[in-house]
Amino acid sequence: FPGTPFARRLIDWQRHHGRHDLPWQTRDAYRVWLSEIMLQQTQVETVIPYYARFLERFPTLESLAAAPVEDVLARWSGLGYYARARNLHKCAQAVMTRHGGTFPADPTLLAELPGIGRSTAAAISAFSYGTRAAILDGNVKRVFARAFGIDGFPGTKAVENALWDLAEALLPERDVDIYTQAQMDLGATLCTRGKPRCGQCPLADGCVALRDGRVAELPTPRPK
Ligand code: ADE
Repeated sequence: FPGTPFARRLIDWQRHHGRHDLPWQTRDAYRVWLSEIMLQQTQVETVIPYYARFLERFPTLESLAAAPVEDVLARWSGLGYYARARNLHKCAQAVMTRHGGTFPADPTLLAELPGIGRSTAAAISAFSYGTRAAILDGNVKRVFARAFGIDGFPGTKAVENALWDLAEALLPERDVDIYTQAQMDLGATLCTRGKPRCGQCPLADGCVALRDGRVAELPTPRPK
């Protein structure tokens, strides 16, 4: 990117324009993990009240692990995708038995737990422990596809592998927690699917899709 590297632009943008008031912006791995699982398939605005009610009933990992699964499902009800709640409960028990009640900082170990994939593991370790690990969720795939002009449906293995390589290569040396939140916030607020706000984007002057008039056609949709 001309003049200022990709990560530097995102970190500076996050400090001034990103979200700083989300209830899960903490270093408490239990709270970070819970938020990332809830946010996997549910919007921020929907998650906020569920997150608060869930923590009232299950304030600690221990309390969640010890609860009957029915109680967990009851507090989850309304969020949908109930396999997430079942895995959440299993994960709490696995952290108790395998890791003595503390989430590990190593994303590889996190990704071995129920309900935690590679990207969620990276987000949890970056937010909770400041670990240098790359995320790649739907929002980040869209930002990368546009900024670097990457063609091909991101659901295919080849495109996904290329995006993961890019995510690893772009990781900054420091401030990975801020950088990770910046990617999420940029994808959610400016580089949206429907109405991208390129005029406010910190990547606009280097964005391949914007330069080529291809913002609306990237990322490439699922082939029919
Ligand atoms: N989506 C997934 N994780 C998120 C986070 N930490 N903040 C905002 N949106 C998210």
